[in-house]
Amino acid sequence: MSGPAGGSSLPSTNPVCLSVCYLLPPHATMTESKMSTIWIVKLAVCSLLLAAFVLFSIAAIRTFSLDVNAGLQLARWEKTDNISLVIQQHDREQLLARFKEAVRIPTVSQESGSNASALRQFDAFLRKAFPTVFSSSLVHHELVANYSHLFRVQGSQPDLVPYLLLAHIDVVPATESDGWEAPPFSATEIDGFIYGRGTIDDKCSLMGILQALEYLLIKGYMPRRGFYIGLGHDEEIKGYEGAMNIVRVMKQRGVKLSFVLDEGLAILDGIISGLEGPAALIGLTEKGQANVKLSVSMPPGHSSIPPKESSIGILASAVKRLEENPMPRLFGLGPERETFEHLAHKFKLPLKFIMSNLWLFSPLLSRVLERKPDTNAFVRTTTAVTMFNSGVKVNVVPPLAEAFVNLRIHSAHSVQEVLDVIQETVGDERVKIQLMDGFEPLPVSSSNERSFGFQIIKKTVLDTFPTVTVAPGICVGNTDSRHFKDLTGDIYRFAPVWFKPGDIQRFHGLNERISKKNYEELVVFYFNLIQNCDIQSLPEPHSSVHEL
Ligand SMILES: *[C@@H]1O[C@H](CO)[C@@H](O)[C@H](O)[C@H]1NC(C)=O
Ligand SMILES: *[C@@H]1O[C@H](CO)[C@@H](O)[C@H](O)[C@H]1NC(C)=O
Ligand SMILES: *[C@@H]1O[C@H](CO)[C@@H](O)[C@H](O)[C@H]1NC(C)=O
Ligand SMILES: [Zn+2]
Repeated sequence: MSGPAGGSSLPSTNPVCLSVCYLLPPHATMTESKMSTIWIVKLAVCSLLLAAFVLFSIAAIRTFSLDVNAGLQLARWEKTDNISLVIQQHDREQLLARFKEAVRIPTVSQESGSNASALRQFDAFLRKAFPTVFSSSLVHHELVANYSHLFRVQGSQPDLVPYLLLAHIDVVPATESDGWEAPPFSATEIDGFIYGRGTIDDKCSLMGILQALEYLLIKGYMPRRGFYIGLGHDEEIKGYEGAMNIVRVMKQRGVKLSFVLDEGLAILDGIISGLEGPAALIGLTEKGQANVKLSVSMPPGHSSIPPKESSIGILASAVKRLEENPMPRLFGLGPERETFEHLAHKFKLPLKFIMSNLWLFSPLLSRVLERKPDTNAFVRTTTAVTMFNSGVKVNVVPPLAEAFVNLRIHSAHSVQEVLDVIQETVGDERVKIQLMDGFEPLPVSSSNERSFGFQIIKKTVLDTFPTVTVAPGICVGNTDSRHFKDLTGDIYRFAPVWFKPGDIQRFHGLNERISKKNYEELVVFYFNLIQNCDIQSLPEPHSSVHEL
């Protein structure tokens, strides 16, 4: 389609345009120049209407024809010697018992550090729980930074680029007295759910991956494509020891990875309003972060002769301005756009119409999304004032006031741009603005039909859960996988954990739990994923998509 301004033949060729143009009042007495002004106005109005008509037509066509989920699903996948997993009652009891034991070891990371004794206990537990993994000649195991684990599983075809599955051992603190229905390190079973800290973040993935490998090896499976499994021990305190040392070791060996799969997003069921059926969101990127300190210094004074403005007052206004002027809307400029486009066909009208045409409606949609904090996080870089310190004594005007702001940076923004916006919004030279630490948003991983990791994960989700729609997504939190960006261009954040309404609050919150059925599904998912990775290459796209 070319531009909407269609030239001189416009008024006479378009019926919609025509009829409206003649509604413009005719003038009986006019000069030449007035005549031509009116003609120009008429032309402009016609052009706009024609443009609107064309846009509407395209939008309508896209709404009913564009299903970006077609493609590879219809294509023929290479058949591999594929082992299927049927879990018998006896195995089921054992795999659940092992999972519960993992949850019972309090591998808590605090700001003050790790629990070395729990981490050592976890190491011993893994060796006992997965004897085949630790004794197989196909698996090379090593400890990294004392408590993290790196496994290399040898493939029979060294020319196939290996991949990496990541999970973490540590968990955030939990105290029963906060209101847990069962003690957080008890792995108590209630109504088919196992309760405990780490059941979803992230021991289900960790145990699921190792359990899948244990079963595969017992069944005599020999992978064609080699792969790695990395288990960090300090993800909850940024992964500076575990993940970063695993990266260091792999870099030293010159390893390049086809893709990395880590925790992050999940299967959302009944959580996205207006969406029919569950959606598996695969995280293509993570937001960046910046911690910024704002400070104001003034000469100290006595409260009996106060200055007109105090350091507290100046800083408070600066903070208020930051809250009242959120960062610019960037919705549609990052992969959040793809999330909606992939899910569009599962929305009812009129949402379906809007989502299918973000090229037209993203400004409208971003205004709707920004109303709620959880969806606002996809629209922009968020600003959270997290600390405010000042004052020493009731009768002293404090010389110093400090505030800390935590910003989560949208994919289309950078740390420097965020600092510039803060500077401009605060607009007061007395407020000193300092970047304490931060990192850029992660690169956006590929999700097209030639993207090996994405398509393998997608196929495995669809094999395991046929009713689910798969779409790319964004992690607003951070994971260990961000440390691996030099080893691969494609990092995905996903585990097939089912989140229903209310479940997201359990994450790092009270009553974290997973259903027994869901844990078993994770084992099956990784069991199939490892085998699906054994194809030589992706099938040729069988395109049924009529892109406009
Ligand atoms: C492997 O087996 C699973 C389950 O039986 C099946 O869904 C999947 O398509 C198979 N993968 C390949 C590559 O044949
Ligand atoms: C550390 O872990 C051990 C288990 O190995 C546990 O007994 C102990 O209570 C934990 N310490 C803290 C401070 O949580
Ligand atoms: C590993 O443990 C040893 C002794 O317990 C300690 O000296 C060393 O610093 C630890 N290494 C790391 C990377 O934590
Ligand atoms: Zn986690």
